[in-house]
Amino acid sequence: MHNRMIKRHDQPSILIHWFNAACWFFLLATGLGLISNPALQPIVQWWPKLMRDLFGGGAALLKVHIIVGVVWAGIWLIFIIAGIARYTLPFLKQIMTYKLPRDIQWMIKKNIQMTLGYKNMARMVKLLGWNGEIPDQGFYNAGQKAAAVGMIAGAVVLVVTGVIMAISKVYLSSAQTPLVQWSITIHYMAAAVTFGILLIHIYMAAISSEERPAFISMFTGEVPEEYARHHHKLWYEKVDI
Ligand code: HEM
Repeated sequence: MHNRMIKRHDQPSILIHWFNAACWFFLLATGLGLISNPALQPIVQWWPKLMRDLFGGGAALLKVHIIVGVVWAGIWLIFIIAGIARYTLPFLKQIMTYKLPRDIQWMIKKNIQMTLGYKNMARMVKLLGWNGEIPDQGFYNAGQKAAAVGMIAGAVVLVVTGVIMAISKVYLSSAQTPLVQWSITIHYMAAAVTFGILLIHIYMAAISSEERPAFISMFTGEVPEEYARHHHKLWYEKVDI
């Protein structure tokens, strides 16, 4: 078989993905810098000090965190609306379409195969009455779909709670203090959960050698035919080559 290259991502999707990643790391770094209470700070205490020194104090750090958050959400909103037919809806359809028996089987088998190898996976799943074959997947595999849904839900919660906090001093009265306090807690929790998903996403995409062609495709837009056939067969079968 020829190992031709197959188009996987368009330029605008690649650009928005890396813009997203850059904003995310910046918001995470500055957000962690805003937590000055040692009892709440999940990483070392020198981080808030470093961030505050870098940006000229806590107030300036908060300002830059809000500005980047608004720019991030604003660019996203434009992309979502402008690309509704070409990018947004097809992407949402891909990540929301599940065939539960196949996808659950994929999740269980893939996790065992990645940690214990193919032979042990085949032996273990026999107990469940399954064979050792990993079920075929579409444009995204079950893990990517679940991660994408989690990341989007996390982003929506972060934006909503972020806006409530940002406008609280100007537009909200003291009667709305509980709303703001809940927003702080939920913002913090959403950031932690999304970051957890992101660690797996980055490990799978940038570190695991199996997915190296997908990582390269996030720059070039293309994957080798053999990779597409092996990892995303249901998509590969529909692509016009
Ligand atoms: C160093 C950081 C990152 C790396 C190396 C990376 C890598 C990748 C790669 C290679 C893909 C394409 C997978 C494929 O074609 O099958 C992808 C897709 C995606 N990335 Fe990232 N990414 C990073 C950061 C982020 C961040 C910060 C977010 C969001 C918070 C994010 C959200 C997504 C989503 C939603 C997709 C589409 C679905 C998926 O593949 O999970 N990525 N990423």
